[in-house]
Amino acid sequence: MSVHRSAAPRYTVTGGAVLRGKVQISGAKNASLAAMCAALLTDEDVILTNVPKISDVDTLGELLVSLGCVVERLGNGRLRLNGGGVRLFEAPSELISENRASFQVMGPLLAAHGYAASAPPGGDVIGQRPIDVHLEGFRALGARISRDGERYVAEAADGPLSLKGARIFMDYPSVSGSQNVMMAAVLASGHTTMVNAATEPEVQELAHLLNAMGAKISGIGSQMLEIDGVRELHGATARIMPDRIEAGTFAIAAAMSGGDVEIDDAPCGVMDALLAKLIAMGTSVDRAEGHLRIRGARELKSVNFQALPYPGLATDLHAPMATALTQAHGVSVIHERVFDNRMLYVTELLKMGARIVSTGNSAIITGPTALNGAHVRALDVRAGAAILLAALVADGVTVIDDIQHLDRGYEHLDTKLRALGVQIERS
Ligand code: UD1
Repeated sequence: MSVHRSAAPRYTVTGGAVLRGKVQISGAKNASLAAMCAALLTDEDVILTNVPKISDVDTLGELLVSLGCVVERLGNGRLRLNGGGVRLFEAPSELISENRASFQVMGPLLAAHGYAASAPPGGDVIGQRPIDVHLEGFRALGARISRDGERYVAEAADGPLSLKGARIFMDYPSVSGSQNVMMAAVLASGHTTMVNAATEPEVQELAHLLNAMGAKISGIGSQMLEIDGVRELHGATARIMPDRIEAGTFAIAAAMSGGDVEIDDAPCGVMDALLAKLIAMGTSVDRAEGHLRIRGARELKSVNFQALPYPGLATDLHAPMATALTQAHGVSVIHERVFDNRMLYVTELLKMGARIVSTGNSAIITGPTALNGAHVRALDVRAGAAILLAALVADGVTVIDDIQHLDRGYEHLDTKLRALGVQIERS
C-alpha cells in the first residue's frame, strides 16, 4: 500500500469489524440547510434544535452571516437565526460554490426583499445540477431573471413582497428547487399551486416549518402543493428531523458487517425503501417509532435496486448500498435514476477488490468479494460513505483521504463508529 502525505484530513480504518451496540442519529443535513434559509423570510428569531455539527451547516451559516443574518449556535444542537438585519441580497460566490443548498437563499431573498443574486450552486460532482426548475418557478411568480457574468439575478418588478401567486409546473421534482420556489411563494400575493413538487421528507419538513412561521401551505407530502400567500411570517422554533441518510448508512453498515446495532432516533417512517431491500438481503430489521434494530445475516443475498425520488430508494444511499452488495451472494443489478454521475465510488471500490462492471448510470455487482485494505479517496460525501463501509469489512488497513467530504454530512462519524467497535483514527 503506497502512502502519500496530503493536507486534507484522512481516516485510517482497520478492517474486520462486526458492528455491535447503539448509535444515536443526528439531525438531518438537508432539512437543516433548508430551514436555515427559511429564517431569511422573517425579522423574528427562528430557533432550530437538533442541528448537526457538520461543515455544510457551517458553510451555509457563514453565507447567511455575510448577508447580515444573525446565526448563533446556542449549544446542544440549538441554532438561533435572525434575518432582521439582512441588507445584502447577493450570495458571495466562494461560499456558494461549496454547497448546493446555498442557492436556496435566492427564493426567500427574492420574496422578502425583491432582489437576489447568486452564482450557480456548488456541491458534489455527482452530475449535471441544473437550476432551471428554480428559475422557472421564480419567473412564474413574476420575477425577472437575468445573467450578469457568472451570476443569476432575480428581481421582482415592484420590489419587496411583490411576487404574485401562480400555477407552476415543476419540470422535474427537484428537492432544492421545490424548497426554493415554496419559500418564494409563501410571501407572494394570492394563490400558488406547485404541480410535480418533490415529496422528500426534507421538503415536507420545510413546509411544516414555514406553516409554523405563519405560512399557509397544504398538500404537504403530495406532488401538488397549494399555497395561500401571506403578507409576513413570524419566528418559530422547530426540531430538525433525524437524518434518514445517516440512519440508513449505519443500518447498511450493521447489515453488511453481520453485526447487531440499535439505531436511536431513526426516522423509520421515511426509510421503507431501504428497509425493504435490507430485509430482502436477509437482514433482520426490528422497527419501532424512532428506533431500529438491525441484525446482519450470516449470508447476505443479492438484490437489484433503482435509486429514485422519494419514496423510492434515496440516491444518497445508492453508493453505500452498492458496497453492501459486494458482500452479498450472487449478482446485483443497480440503476441510478436521479443523478447522472453517481458512480464515482466504483473506481475506489475496484481498488479494494470489488467486482463491479458499470456503464453509464448502471452497475452489475458480483459478490461476495473479500475486499482488501487500500489507499483510497472520499470523492464526494456519499461516495466517501461507501468507501468507509468497504473499509469496515476489508482485510487489513484502509487509508481514506479527503474525508472533508464526509465532514459535510456526517456528525462525529469516527466517534460513533468507534463506539460500535470499529478501529478508526482521524489524522
Ligand atoms: C437534494 C439533496 C441531495 C439529494 C438530492 C436528491 C440538498 C442540499 N441536497 O439535492 O442530497 O441527493 O436532493 O434527493 O437538499 N434537476 C433539474 N433541474 C433543476 C434542478 C434539478 O433537472 O432545476 C435535476 C438534476 O439534474 C438531478 C435531479 O433533478 O438529476 C435531482 O436534483 P435535485 O432534486 O434538485 O437535487 P438537489 O436539490 O440538488
